[in-house]
Amino acid sequence: IHNNYDELSIWAANHIAEKINDFKPSAEKPFVLGLPTGSTPLGTYKTLIDLYNQGKVSFKNVVTFNMDEYVGIAEDHPESYHCFMFDNFFNHIDIQKENINILDGNAADLDAECERYEAKIESYGGIELFMGGMGADGHLAFNIPGSSIQSRTRLVDLNYDTIVANSRFFDNDLNQVPKQALTVGVQTVLDSKEVLVLVNGYKKARALQNVVENGINHMWTLSAMQMHPNGIIVCDEDATMEL
Ligand code: GLP
Repeated sequence: IHNNYDELSIWAANHIAEKINDFKPSAEKPFVLGLPTGSTPLGTYKTLIDLYNQGKVSFKNVVTFNMDEYVGIAEDHPESYHCFMFDNFFNHIDIQKENINILDGNAADLDAECERYEAKIESYGGIELFMGGMGADGHLAFNIPGSSIQSRTRLVDLNYDTIVANSRFFDNDLNQVPKQALTVGVQTVLDSKEVLVLVNGYKKARALQNVVENGINHMWTLSAMQMHPNGIIVCDEDATMEL
């Protein structure tokens, strides 16, 4: 628990940089990092870019897998998660383009795309560290309430709460918000060696209480993290208001 968002972001970025630096990568086994979008990780990305510019971390031997992507908006749409990641992170660090993995929400066969993604994660021997955020209804990636805790990468219909929450990025117009997405499953995230979830602000406080203080429940999908031997929730004081 940190005092505020800036301190949370600095801690998370330094933690990730430390894990990358401690890892001994090889051609067969680079550092595999899972990444989220959303407003919450922006401060962490900014701090990671600062650390990179100061020569304190390099992403040359890092392979990334993003959590999710909308279905049916162009890759170069400013609100696609592809654009988000390049604008806010990848364009500012030394990651190799071929090491970036993001689900293709425009694939002709969406189910095959999800299978391909899981297989590719597997081909690296799994994910070392998965960073995530949390929706106000306790969702992880796009594993909206009701998603199986054993779910894997798949096509999902977004729930109304998530469509409304994300409409702020689409001129507050619900019609413009994509209604479907591809997302890694809860189990895909849990399979990672370490899970690091960032939560900030009082708007997430009720969800955090359900995730942390109640039982493991598929209606608050992040609660599945209670089963993870190496799961960290890093939050600010405001997010803990209901704990
Ligand atoms: C979307 C993303 C999630 C993210 C959530 C919260 O639903 N798919 O990965 O955690 O939004 O976003 P924010 O950080 O903007 O509150």
